[in-house]
Amino acid sequence: MDFQQELAQAIAAAASLSPQEARQALEVPPDSTMGDYAFPCFRLAKTWRKAPQMIASELAEKIAVPDFVQKVEVKGAYLNFFLDAGVFAREVLEAVEQAGLQYGSSTEGAGKTIVIDYSSPNIAKPFHVGHLRSTVIGNALYHIFQALGYHAIGINHLGDWGTQFGKLIVAYQKWGSKEAVEEKGITELMRLYVKFHEQAEQTPELEDEARAWFKKMQDGDEEALTLWKWFYDISMKEFERVYGMLHVTFDHYTGESFYNDKMDAVVQELKDKGLLVESNGALIVDLSEDNMPPCLILRSDGGTLYATRDITAAIYRKKTYHFDKCIYLTALDQNLHFAQWFKVIEKMGYDWAKDLVHVPFGLVSLDSGKLSTRKGHVVLMEDLLHQSVEETRKIIAEKNPDLPDKETVARQVGIGAVIFNDLYNSRVKDVVFSWERMLNFEGETGPYVQYTNARANSILRKAGETAQPVDYRLLSDAASFDVCKALAAFPEKVHEAAEKYEPSVVSRSLMDIAQKFNKFYHDNPILNQSDEIKYARLAVVRAVTVVLTRGLGLLGIEAPEQM
Ligand code: ARG
Repeated sequence: MDFQQELAQAIAAAASLSPQEARQALEVPPDSTMGDYAFPCFRLAKTWRKAPQMIASELAEKIAVPDFVQKVEVKGAYLNFFLDAGVFAREVLEAVEQAGLQYGSSTEGAGKTIVIDYSSPNIAKPFHVGHLRSTVIGNALYHIFQALGYHAIGINHLGDWGTQFGKLIVAYQKWGSKEAVEEKGITELMRLYVKFHEQAEQTPELEDEARAWFKKMQDGDEEALTLWKWFYDISMKEFERVYGMLHVTFDHYTGESFYNDKMDAVVQELKDKGLLVESNGALIVDLSEDNMPPCLILRSDGGTLYATRDITAAIYRKKTYHFDKCIYLTALDQNLHFAQWFKVIEKMGYDWAKDLVHVPFGLVSLDSGKLSTRKGHVVLMEDLLHQSVEETRKIIAEKNPDLPDKETVARQVGIGAVIFNDLYNSRVKDVVFSWERMLNFEGETGPYVQYTNARANSILRKAGETAQPVDYRLLSDAASFDVCKALAAFPEKVHEAAEKYEPSVVSRSLMDIAQKFNKFYHDNPILNQSDEIKYARLAVVRAVTVVLTRGLGLLGIEAPEQM
């Protein structure tokens, strides 16, 4: 059940507001001596033509308080609501029990479709940790929107077309061999790609050769396309391995090459709508009115561009999926690209341009500095995941050598740590990889949340039979109340995470629950207590395992029962 909502309804009825307005105005005071919820009356002063303090007093009289509110206090212009901890605990814990792993789900998105364009690595370039962010943020949003009843469609807009293939073909023919590519796969492709860039610095003509090969691909040249397909297959094999480790899936792998036969019509449409202008032989859409550089649509040699494919893809997706929103997860450095072509869609007269959303995120760096594809300081995502699992293995060997199924747990925790690290801060912030920090079982980390959950599970195992009637009044202490409040906030956090495209809202909520739970467990012994107390406290423990498991699941992280 949703206390905030119910309270908002009671306030709304008394204050003649809509429940949404009342809900938006409700605050959580910075410290609980000022109540658990507070309603400021300043905004009502205008319509009520009264001092906010007076409004607060009048409302306090008028409001029909729900039974989970123990008292209402007027403090200046605020109405402060104090919850009845026992009633509150009952409501929250029963709600979690009933919903189980669906806790936090809703139907607010029913009938709506959201397309999520995420991961989208570039084939024949390495799948590096920069793409990790797009992958894990997109995957988390996918689960979050699904939980809210949306029809989510996950699309991997693979960078599987473009001049980089021309470069690769040139490099392969000059410095590569079939055997090496077959043996080393993407590592060899990467070596060739890096080599191309090194050589092209001295010999710029290589760039022309590369463009010529790409042109051949576009013209359907068999040799070029055979090589392209080969590189594609090799890269896909690696990507699928990584996605498998992360348990990430997509509804469609429609990469850039998928739009090859669909771009002519769009270029024609742009011409018909009078949007294309010639500039040095190329065709562009002028955006000077919008204070942006022009959007390049066709190169002078007829080659299409990244933006051409994005425009075509958006039109295709609108026609095919009738989305209500289509969101794109990439690093911040593509802000301009998206702003430009969103504008082009708008200029084409499509009112759904407003439903295209770029969801940018910050860079990833290792302790050793920024990651880059070209210079060769690349950390491949797969290596990174393996290393994280390996580090976790060591920690388990040291801390809990008798743990059953150690290998599975090491994988769940090692990979969970990487994902959580990526999702813990607001996405526009840069992420730094530090094994020590990420894997610290006592820090603000994935392993900490997983460990808390495993600990709660172990309490339940030791307690044996737990489904007993519970006297919730025994949960009126501050630590129990705090856990219940953190649990109660969770559904709202899921909603907020979707609204802001910000999975960190969920990861922060989980951290809050875990920290409150550890305090609760520290203050409230469980197993050696009277039955009544034991059963009441076990009800808290059970709910915590459910919500942590659920929340980790939304983030794409597994929750081992033992660690
Ligand atoms: N392949 C691009 C890159 O790695 C990301 C693609 C994002 N999606 C899109 N529709 N543009 O930078």
